Amino acid sequence: MKAIVVYESHWGNTAAIARAIAEGIGPEARAVSTAEATGDALSGVDLIVAGAPLLGFSLPTESMVKGLASEAGKAPAPPDLSHPSMRSWLESLRKGSGRAAAFETRIWWSPGSAAKAILGKLEAAGYLQAAKAERFIVKGRYGPLRDGELERAKAWGAELAREASK
Ligand SMILES: Cc1cc2nc3c(=O)[nH]c(=O)nc-3n(C[C@H](O)[C@H](O)[C@H](O)COP(=O)(O)O)c2cc1C
Repeated sequence: MKAIVVYESHWGNTAAIARAIAEGIGPEARAVSTAEATGDALSGVDLIVAGAPLLGFSLPTESMVKGLASEAGKAPAPPDLSHPSMRSWLESLRKGSGRAAAFETRIWWSPGSAAKAILGKLEAAGYLQAAKAERFIVKGRYGPLRDGELERAKAWGAELAREASK
């Protein structure tokens, strides 16, 4: 089974979850940013897992991502703005036929869902839902992840692998 875990991440929380999910899926899975998830990396994938942070109660827009540059003074580290938003990556995604799952990182109390938006777009591209949209929790505006979230992500990855190989 070929699997890919694609992420948008500006302070590393979503990237860390993506790597833990890939580890849970197994050695056949790779975690890559939206910049790396193109062409060969995507061809013939049986399982796409995609994740993004919840920003402003939604899946970030390209302009929201650009606006993160203004957070540099407040955040503990400058945002990583080197890769496209998940939203624009999904817009350029070609039709496929594998299974799909989606996740988001977020503060626990927030309304909105990036993961549900991602899943809807993956389904519109022809992928079949392998699991319900999942959320992983951060402790503050820029992270860090709540204790135990990496372990939970790894377990979710293992569950997805079982589901996708059915
Ligand atoms: C500008 C901004 C807006 C945010 N908006 C929300 C929000 O609406 N809901 C929420 O739960 N978390 C919100 N967060 C917290 C992020 O979702 C959280 O820090 C996320 O894990 C960051 O992921 P990353 O480190 O992969 O970029 C916001 C953070 C920033 C910087």
